[in-house]
Amino acid sequence: MIRPRRFRRTSVIRQLLQENELKVSNLVLPIFVHDQIESIPIKGMDGHSCLDQISLLNHCEQALKKGISSVAIFPSIDAEKKTKDCREAINENNLMCQVTRRIKKTFGDHLLVIGDIALDPYSSDGHDGLLENGIIKNDETVEVLAKMALVQADAGVDILAPSDMMDGRVLAIREALDSASFSDRMILSYTAKYASSFYGPFRNALQSNPKEGDKKTYQMNPYNRVEAGIELELDVAEGADMLMVKPAGHYLDIISDFRNACMLPIAAYQVSGEYAMLSCAAKAGIFDFKDALLESLIAIKRAGASIIFTYGALDIADDLNDSK
Ligand code: PBG
Repeated sequence: MIRPRRFRRTSVIRQLLQENELKVSNLVLPIFVHDQIESIPIKGMDGHSCLDQISLLNHCEQALKKGISSVAIFPSIDAEKKTKDCREAINENNLMCQVTRRIKKTFGDHLLVIGDIALDPYSSDGHDGLLENGIIKNDETVEVLAKMALVQADAGVDILAPSDMMDGRVLAIREALDSASFSDRMILSYTAKYASSFYGPFRNALQSNPKEGDKKTYQMNPYNRVEAGIELELDVAEGADMLMVKPAGHYLDIISDFRNACMLPIAAYQVSGEYAMLSCAAKAGIFDFKDALLESLIAIKRAGASIIFTYGALDIADDLNDSK
């Protein structure tokens, strides 16, 4: 008789047969920063704040000490700097560029900086693209995104991560980087980014909720799986170095499809609402926070993502280091 329980009899056997591993070096810590003197806590995300610039450096140091060497920086832009044409996005002295220069000066290549390429933090309309008469202007937006990638690359951003879902942006960013001698910088494309409710705490933190309408004309329909394959083919052809699926936990089928469809590294973003769900349920005594967080990350890894963005990176790092 075949008895699969033989696979599970002792801890040593279970480890011998374990198919996947989660390492601290797989994790990316997203960080919010603003141009104010004090940090402000983020609703629903216990332990997370929109940081002032000095706290941000301390936070990076803490991450490095725990073995987390990659951060994704999200700047919260002052309301008076948000405009319809999003010009602050291409200001070479904007908050993102200032922060990146500070990080690079302090930590050099020990800390990898990932920069978000999308217009929403800079948009008075709260959209990822330029809005004209209720319509998102794709090609005009792509031109601004390419310039935005250049100012960030010049400030020292290692990986440019377009999260806007405009058509053709990966190629435009690649060409802009290459023609400005930034051919060494990687593009991590948010290839399949879904129109999701789970971005709630993030939008609160950046005060970037769309003023009108929603993001369904550019972010993908959660009902669709096959369509993600079109986005994948385009991003591969346009020169993306890595492909991202977002959100992660409810989109494991897409992560798995991506893993099987190409040879590029696959990333997944456990977004703010996913973290908030875990955090709030644990606070209500439903389960142990770290156990549930770990299981959610294991699932994302098992589905095929080798890079995982998670707000829980700092929470889980010690446990992962200890289990070595
Ligand atoms: C903006 C962007 C969003 C997130 C990352 N980049 C929000 C959105 O698309 O509205 C969400 C991340 C999160 O919820 O943690 N382009």
